[in-house]
Amino acid sequence: METKGRILIVEDEKSMREVLRILLEEEGYEIIAASNGIEGMEYLGGDIFDLVVTDIKMPKADGFEVLKKVKELSPSTIVIMITAFGTTESTIEAMKLGAYDYIHKPFKIDEIRLIIQKAFERKNLGEELSLLREKIKSSCGLENIVGKSPKMQELFTLIRRVAQSNSTVLIRGESGSGKELVASALHNLSPRKQKNFVTINCATFPEGLLESELFGHVKGSFTGALYNKEGLFEVANRGSIFLDEIGEMPLSLQSKLLRVLENGTFRRVGGLSDITVDVRVISATNKDISEAVASGGFREDLFYRLNVVPINIPPLRERPDDIPLLLDHFLNKSLSNAKRFSPEALRFLMRYSWKGNVRELENVVERTVLLTDSEIILAEDLPEEISRADEAGKQLPEIGDEGIDFESIMEQIEKDYLVKALEKAKGIKTEAARLLKLSFRSFRHKLYKYGIK
Ligand SMILES: Nc1ncnc2c1ncn2[C@@H]1O[C@H](COP(=O)(O)OP(=O)(O)OP(=O)(O)O)[C@@H](O)[C@H]1O
Ligand SMILES: [Mg+2]
Repeated sequence: METKGRILIVEDEKSMREVLRILLEEEGYEIIAASNGIEGMEYLGGDIFDLVVTDIKMPKADGFEVLKKVKELSPSTIVIMITAFGTTESTIEAMKLGAYDYIHKPFKIDEIRLIIQKAFERKNLGEELSLLREKIKSSCGLENIVGKSPKMQELFTLIRRVAQSNSTVLIRGESGSGKELVASALHNLSPRKQKNFVTINCATFPEGLLESELFGHVKGSFTGALYNKEGLFEVANRGSIFLDEIGEMPLSLQSKLLRVLENGTFRRVGGLSDITVDVRVISATNKDISEAVASGGFREDLFYRLNVVPINIPPLRERPDDIPLLLDHFLNKSLSNAKRFSPEALRFLMRYSWKGNVRELENVVERTVLLTDSEIILAEDLPEEISRADEAGKQLPEIGDEGIDFESIMEQIEKDYLVKALEKAKGIKTEAARLLKLSFRSFRHKLYKYGIK
């Protein structure tokens, strides 16, 4: 049977000890009882308790020593002291040393029940909070941006450096490549991390609304403006604002944005006085803004202001080395984290062109995990576009405007064949070398170079 929690009782008086034991066992707790401080501390050394109830006055080691031991060995364990009536001083002392609460002797049974119950509620809450804090912490920094390819390593270095400054950053990357993730890492690694990180997608608001979202409005400035409203630039004061799809910002608003960037001031819609803020501006686009600049859709001066530090996120297809890592990451995130992709499936995944980048890969993992019963996900379990792309796609990958990473593509092909040969040769290296018409020496050298075991 599952218990509500483990409690250690340390009490030298036998009748008290037994009353407490029976009472708390009835409440559904698991009880260990010690008849003096020394014995109690021995239990503490070898076991984990949610809660310790200890008498203060005991021969040999007293309740304070037990309390100190708990704080030393297991700070999250809650300690409740039992004190004789009228010993206020030692009670205060105990609270100072980190006791959670105390019970006066002689005690009422209901009082004890309540104190213990409250203590457990408090403990669970505390644990939930610290879990939550961990989660928030880990979902924001670089830890959550998965990647080990040289391109991603460069990106991490750049993010760490740029985060420290106040320069505006323009993040460029294809859809789903992680722009928002990078933006939040920039904020969370910056000295502004305690303040707000506000994000807004400029493409999702009509012009008038976008202005009032960003800069706020005063009551009565337009129909529907029933109250004064602060804009996101005010909310983000001393923090950061992330302007997503900045290329969609209407021309009429661009000059207002430029003004905030230049001297930190703006006016609410309908407002008469300037408001000054200190906001770090991070923006992102998956379009080529310089094209919009050339065609007159985007102000050139604003573009330069926004683009003080450009950060380019490479598309996933240019860093296939990151794919196995990302697959693991998303498998672990999914509920069935015992599942794995077969080596063949992995090869398909690494060769696919991933137009939707990491988001597409995340979706594929989610879908295949859901639709596959067995623990190993095979190539035929993959969505058709991926397995089909590979068949048709003995054709070479496209060479985009930014070119391709020839060396790493060739290395990947080499690696694939080494593994394939080893699999076919059932792990016998001389045989694998023969299959590839390589000398054993150069075969072994290549294995070593790629770290293949
Ligand atoms: N390197 C990465 N490691 C782990 N997860 C990633 C990585 N890159 C992106 N993701 C995940 O992929 C999804 C898409 O990322 P994000 O929203 O940051 O992309 P985006 O570039 O802003 O996309 P869009 O252009 O569509 O707005 C998110 O779920 C994000 O957590
Ligand atoms: Mg985005």
